[in-house]
Amino acid sequence: MEYKPLNKKLILEGLKDTIFKDAIILEEIDSTNEFAKRISKKDNVLIVAEHQTAGKGRRGRRWFSKKYANLLFSLLLNPDLTKEYTFSLSMALALSFVFSIEKIAEVKALIKWPNDIYVNQKKIAGILTEFSLKGEKLDYVIIGMGINVNWAPKAEELLYPATSLKDETGRTFEREILLLDILKRFSDYYKKILSGDIDELYRSWNEHSLIIGKTVSAEDGTKGKALRIEKDGSLIILADGKEKRITYGNINL
Ligand code: BTN
Repeated sequence: MEYKPLNKKLILEGLKDTIFKDAIILEEIDSTNEFAKRISKKDNVLIVAEHQTAGKGRRGRRWFSKKYANLLFSLLLNPDLTKEYTFSLSMALALSFVFSIEKIAEVKALIKWPNDIYVNQKKIAGILTEFSLKGEKLDYVIIGMGINVNWAPKAEELLYPATSLKDETGRTFEREILLLDILKRFSDYYKKILSGDIDELYRSWNEHSLIIGKTVSAEDGTKGKALRIEKDGSLIILADGKEKRITYGNINL
């Protein structure tokens, strides 16, 4: 099928209702996260790319997409927060996406800890958050997100099955509308996080978790029932009658 480029004017206009002061829309780049690092002194900037030559996933993996088909973007933020809030920032974006596609596409998604987004057991979006510190505080935070809107990579290229909004619904989606809806929701969460109020967000990420209540195994061999995801992002598993804290790695269901 024919994919069409993003409408930059529409995106710039829509940003007025968000915390983003500027948008940089690139035809091609290595990675929007890497680009954001190069301009990390700027605040509240959206960087979007039509194509990435070296799209990065978590833990050294690659992120695959197709030109003009999907959403590839990074949010560059310079919040006055300590690093404990980085998980809240990633969740604010993950949940914004979950609520957006529920409204726009009537698709239900869940978050697989730490911040992969799944629909019907298949991955539809991923988040890569990177940050730098200045003393105790965050200097910059870059929240990169890849969303399979109108195209998904084939399973053999990946370690997990993938899907797209198009695969799930049979419809193609205007990427600008989805992006702006996500950014508006994110902006509301962001203002709350800056004021230190993350209670609702915390409840919501536990409610929209793919793994809470299920028997899971962590990379370090811990096996048990996933109980909750704490405010700092650590996962609590009940294993052999004791609560065990997992802070990194992948989870198998
Ligand atoms: C993951 O699921 O492993 C995270 C994927 C994150 C991909 C996005 S695409 C836009 C941004 N730029 C990158 O290089 N990576 C993130």
